[in-house]
Amino acid sequence: MRFDVLTLFPEIFSGYLTQSLLKLAIDRGLTSVHLHNIRDWAEGKHKQVDDKPFGGGPGMLLMAGPVVEAVEAVQAAADAPPGRLLLMSPQGRRLDQSLAEELSTSNRLVLLCGRYEGFDQRVVDLLRPEEISIGDYVLNGGEVAAMTIIDSVVRLVPGVLGDETSNQEDSFSRAGRTLEYAQYTRPREYRGLSVPDVLLSGNHPEIAAWREADAARRTAARLRAMDSGLQDSAGEPRPKPEA
Ligand code: ADE
Repeated sequence: MRFDVLTLFPEIFSGYLTQSLLKLAIDRGLTSVHLHNIRDWAEGKHKQVDDKPFGGGPGMLLMAGPVVEAVEAVQAAADAPPGRLLLMSPQGRRLDQSLAEELSTSNRLVLLCGRYEGFDQRVVDLLRPEEISIGDYVLNGGEVAAMTIIDSVVRLVPGVLGDETSNQEDSFSRAGRTLEYAQYTRPREYRGLSVPDVLLSGNHPEIAAWREADAARRTAARLRAMDSGLQDSAGEPRPKPEA
């Protein structure tokens, strides 16, 4: 699976791509991430990429020219198909686990990151990207959203997690799309809190039943918390905010 990222700040990605799971996936040839600086397609001595909006208003917009030409050049690269073009935008379709699963079946994703107040509308009109949002809040740019997409998609690529079953137990990937059950490791007791006996019993059907029940309880608690805003994810009441 190949990712291409178009951004004005490719350096933002360097720490993220050189650590942990992403580094391993890249080193093992399971994925590749190609960074492209949109400014390389800007013209003139100053390599200008942004300008004031016509009609007035705050901030600066990314100009259509450098962005459209950058995307066209990257998608036309001879060694890969054009792929799916995703534009990072708070106005886009919300990323969730089913969208991550759908994206993971693609062999190339081209991710376009904005900055400033957004893009000249002709970027969208000419390139017809799929606009994707990672949530209802406004980020300073699309880079964190692009990293979120890469992160959620790459772990679904076969071979990346090593143990092929482990993402099937993730929250939202589980059958029924429930949250994941609670897990414990050593020590058996920490600050007076013990690991539930059933998990130490060696009885696998009972362990599986306990986990299903815990996952269902957490999911129901989350749904109630979303209604009331007053519980934590384990269903415990939250302390009342100080007056
Ligand atoms: N760019 C700015 N805010 C964003 C968001 N919430 N999701 C995706 N891209 C963005």
